[in-house]
Amino acid sequence: MPRLSCYFIRAALIYLALGALLGGLILSAKGAPSTLGWAWQFLPAHIQLVIGGWLIQLSLGVAYWILPRRDGTGDRGRPAAAWLCFAALNVGVAGAAILLALRAVLQAAWLDALLGLAALGQVLALAAFAWHAWPRVAPVLTQARPSAH
Ligand code: HEM
Repeated sequence: MPRLSCYFIRAALIYLALGALLGGLILSAKGAPSTLGWAWQFLPAHIQLVIGGWLIQLSLGVAYWILPRRDGTGDRGRPAAAWLCFAALNVGVAGAAILLALRAVLQAAWLDALLGLAALGQVLALAAFAWHAWPRVAPVLTQARPSAH
């Protein structure tokens, strides 16, 4: 498995653990609304962690690994763009999750502006991954085989 896929998948597992922790807390709040009612403030952070941090990151990590390589040398297209994707996605997802959690206790315009930047980081990450993957997703021309008879 390529090193970048390892990083993607390990990071995804960490986000799943963090997301499940917040999800468990929110679930517990259903049983104990008077003591744990505050946990609902972490719902947006939970969704960010499990969708952006877990689901999307896991798919990208596996895709980097299994999409067809371009030739016999194992060329993976544009690896620099895939590394940029990894960096921008993690800064974007971790930043957004922290800011969304902070927003529960703090209302400020700068917080919203930073949240916008974190979202832009995630968009940049997806665009960079598409740029990397595009040349790897091409039809392979196969020669017609002569018929058996
Ligand atoms: C792993 C353990 C998880 C736990 C304990 C958990 C728990 C929860 C709870 C209690 C809620 C609030 C439900 C409600 O509004 O009544 C919630 C919402 C949500 N969770 Fe999770 N969750 C987990 C994993 C995931 C995963 C893996 C995903 C996505 C792949 C996910 C996506 C969502 C979404 C999108 C919502 C918002 C649903 C809505 O508002 O209608 N969760 N979760």
